[in-house]
Amino acid sequence: MNEDFALKLKLKVDETEDMLKCFLPTAHGSWSVIADAMNYSFLSGGKRLRPLIAMETYSLFGGNDSRVIEPLAAAIEMIHTYSLIHDDLPAMDNDDLRRGKPTNHKVYGEAMAILAGDGLLNFAFETAVKAFDACEDIETYKNVAKALEAIASFPGLNGMIGGQVVDLLTTEGKLPCDEATFRQMDELKTGALIECAFLTGALAAGADSEDTALVKRIAGKTGIAFQIRDDILDITGDEAVLGKPVGSDVKNGKKNLATILGLDKAEEEVVRLSDEACRELETIYERHDESDHFLSELVEYLTNREK
Ligand code: IPE
Ligand code: IPE
Ligand code: MG
Ligand code: MG
Ligand code: MG
Repeated sequence: MNEDFALKLKLKVDETEDMLKCFLPTAHGSWSVIADAMNYSFLSGGKRLRPLIAMETYSLFGGNDSRVIEPLAAAIEMIHTYSLIHDDLPAMDNDDLRRGKPTNHKVYGEAMAILAGDGLLNFAFETAVKAFDACEDIETYKNVAKALEAIASFPGLNGMIGGQVVDLLTTEGKLPCDEATFRQMDELKTGALIECAFLTGALAAGADSEDTALVKRIAGKTGIAFQIRDDILDITGDEAVLGKPVGSDVKNGKKNLATILGLDKAEEEVVRLSDEACRELETIYERHDESDHFLSELVEYLTNREK
């Protein structure tokens, strides 16, 4: 990673981390352990890519009110964190390590981990609607409403959850383990939330339909590349660096694009998708006369990452 970019990224991730801490759940009675369980996973690190993407895309399209984008970006990270807590459960991937710490159910038990995930999903919407408090005109109000619609739908049954279902069905032998099915699985289980992050930024800033269509394409490619990279790292990664188990997919008998294409072809596909996404980002930079290319550097980094 180029040193300049590494420094910029660290600064932005630290800022994102501080921003997230302004939106922590608290519980007001004898059930307060639920807030502890939610915060345990929410505050245990992670790359914070989705809120960062939302905020960067918002700025790219001229958004300049942190009171609008921050609650929306935080909500996406809450949904992502809930998805990880549930993904690690014994009934799903049955993993013991996440973000360098024991998984939520290892610390709080399975029942509480299910509730912590549910709690984060609801709290995401309690948080996201705070963006309306900052709307001073009807246009901003409409833009926030459109972003909120994306936050409600992309992680849902025809997005992230649908992808987790395809993951389950392919593992159980109820869907074919072929390239088309795995591509669709990645598009949904991971691509949808990454698309949600890009679109939330664009919609909240009032991007026009041409830009929104471009953003969707860029995000879709980035999302699939991100998941293929995740699948590669499940084979070649280092647990101490990743902060989650290596070999989880093999343990669960899971196939994916990296296993059916082979590591070399899978790597090539990641590069192809990430190059295409960066090329399309250039079109947006030209349309907006933008000289800051941080988002392209971010896309390149997250498809080349070691963690
Ligand atoms: C992990 O996402 C789950 C996938 C969709 C592959 P990240 O790799 O972004 O996890 P964190 O947020 O950094 O822990
Ligand atoms: C995760 O896919 C997708 C989610 C929606 C959480 P994985 O199961 O491969 O993610 P990791 O490897 O556990 O982070
Ligand atoms: Mg999984
Ligand atoms: Mg998993
Ligand atoms: Mg994985």
